[in-house]
Amino acid sequence: APAAAETVYITADRMLDVRSGGMVARPAVLVEDGRVAKVGTVTDLPAPQGATRIDLPGLTLLPGLIDMHVHLTSRHDLHGYRRLTRNATDLAIDGVVNARTTLEAGFTTVRNLGAGSFADVAVKRAVEEGRVPGPRLIVSGPPLSALGGHGDANLMPYDLQREAEGVATGPWALAEKVRYNRKFGADVIKIMATGGVLSKGTEVGAQQLTEEEMAAIVKEAHMLGMKVAAHAHGNAGIKAAIRAGVDTVEHASFLDAEAIALAKKNGTVLAMDIYNTEFILGEGEKAGILPESLAKERTVGQTQRTSFGEAVKAGVKLTFGSDAGVYPHGWNAKQFSRMVKFGMTPLQAIQAATVVAADALGMAEEVGSIAPGRYADMVAVAADPLADIATLETIPVVIKGGEVVKDVR
Ligand code: ARG
Repeated sequence: APAAAETVYITADRMLDVRSGGMVARPAVLVEDGRVAKVGTVTDLPAPQGATRIDLPGLTLLPGLIDMHVHLTSRHDLHGYRRLTRNATDLAIDGVVNARTTLEAGFTTVRNLGAGSFADVAVKRAVEEGRVPGPRLIVSGPPLSALGGHGDANLMPYDLQREAEGVATGPWALAEKVRYNRKFGADVIKIMATGGVLSKGTEVGAQQLTEEEMAAIVKEAHMLGMKVAAHAHGNAGIKAAIRAGVDTVEHASFLDAEAIALAKKNGTVLAMDIYNTEFILGEGEKAGILPESLAKERTVGQTQRTSFGEAVKAGVKLTFGSDAGVYPHGWNAKQFSRMVKFGMTPLQAIQAATVVAADALGMAEEVGSIAPGRYADMVAVAADPLADIATLETIPVVIKGGEVVKDVR
């Protein structure tokens, strides 16, 4: 960890201003105590005496990336019944390993949406204490779910039955779960508004929490200063979640004009994991994904990508959420090129993972841009990311809090 009151001076060839899309030549960034103090150029902002220098010739700087939907405690090679081989300690150990991989891929802030046993809280604590490397973490703990819903434990037969930690029925019982999750360290509330692809016995099209239940969750969470992220594939569940006041809709696969209009009107942010389908259909069977889940994915993947394009065109707020953990951690950035393929400009895709994400987290003053007051979280890439978005898949230099955490130039 950097010594207290350390001054760091960072230079590069170019810097992308993610708000304007402008490129700054020969940028210089002055960092004090892990936060950006000043931003300029090597001519108007010379290196102060005694500053630690990080010179990145030939590279382009941009803010550290943000992934709004990961599962650090999940593994891509342990799907379906293989998940039952993991205990809570395994989850935390996997989380530590995956946190490092994610940071080294250039994601300096991630939101973990769903983890058993509050293993994500443990990983966050270890990272914040500086014991293990990892991104800044915003964690949910166990997802709130209907009985038998996408967030329940549905793999066991009746005589070996188990109920997942976040399961409850009715507005008050679910509001209590909000308080419970917060008590044990959750920063954000994840809810399962509809069925899902990877859960057993659920329908992606079926709404699983009533609008009344979701409204009670949102009211309680907002009262406590927490945001609500709703997993929702089906159209009715997406609309009910938006009307109930959730902050982000995850997956958002089956959109229609009404859902798009509602999201725009309410300022709801969508996080659509449009790379995911390629891994699930390509590698999923080998990884243990159930046949019924593969069948569901075939009904979701293409529709979600079409919905994504329509949401982009309509000007809905779209952030970057990958669902990494379903597929290998560290592959998060593969989604950028798909976001461009299905309708965004490269700048929009980068904004989704920086300024838009920071706003959606309520952390615009902390992360998402290289600007005074923000954490000095940045990445440096070899190519111009506006001309070659895939350059974000191989990030050679990662800086978190003014400290170089990866340098493989
Ligand atoms: N965790 C999600 C679910 O089980 C993954 C959905 C993946 N498919 C997709 N096309 N985005 O529902």
